[in-house]
Amino acid sequence: MIIAANLKTNLTREKTAKYISEVESYVRKNSITSEVFVFPATSSLTSHTGAVVVGAQNAYPTINGAFTGEIGYEQLEEFGIKTILIGHSERRHLLGETQEELIKKFNFYKELGFKIIYCVGEPLEIREAGFETMMEYISKQYEGIDVTYENLIIAYEPVWAIGTGLTPTSEDIVAIHAELKKKSLAPILYGGSVKVTNAKEVLALDGVDGILVGGAALYAEHFCTMCEYAQELNK
Ligand code: 13P
Repeated sequence: MIIAANLKTNLTREKTAKYISEVESYVRKNSITSEVFVFPATSSLTSHTGAVVVGAQNAYPTINGAFTGEIGYEQLEEFGIKTILIGHSERRHLLGETQEELIKKFNFYKELGFKIIYCVGEPLEIREAGFETMMEYISKQYEGIDVTYENLIIAYEPVWAIGTGLTPTSEDIVAIHAELKKKSLAPILYGGSVKVTNAKEVLALDGVDGILVGGAALYAEHFCTMCEYAQELNK
């Protein structure tokens, strides 16, 4: 399974280092066999070798250059980062990243052999328009993306479930993941209000290959408990 923490714009560099070291020692001590990823804020990126893989929440599709406020491959390479999140709903909706921009980013980091966690998911009004409309919307987020890329992981994160405490029903998650499985062989993570109290149930669902956790992953202890659940399920 794949257990990933998206720390978003949280924790300082010092706190992130402590966080990663706590997760690393837990994963080692408990012989966790899942792939465990941590995505810190850009200023907290760090060279980490061990069981935990540190990835970038975002980067610009460039080696370097004049892109104020962005980082590129050169800055990731300095820390040995080879994993990136692309298409997170906060980047699509708050930062206005278009599908065209995401395709460029995807292709650039694909060429460099990065592991890419590509996020898809619908806003509430699309969800409320029915299953078919929702799947059409999500299908558009697959446009231009090489779904056969060997280092691809998909994260299904309904926008309305992110940070709200709301989640789709288990039946809905199973049905949507089943549809998405028809599009590619890539593992599919579920993300959106996953917490210690529901993580085991979500991880156990058919078609769920892991979780991408935001708020509830900010405490290393909670994130480690979720890693333990994955271990217990032994999927
Ligand atoms: P929350 O777990 O805080 O709902 O966030 C999910 C998410 O956006 C992970 O990328």
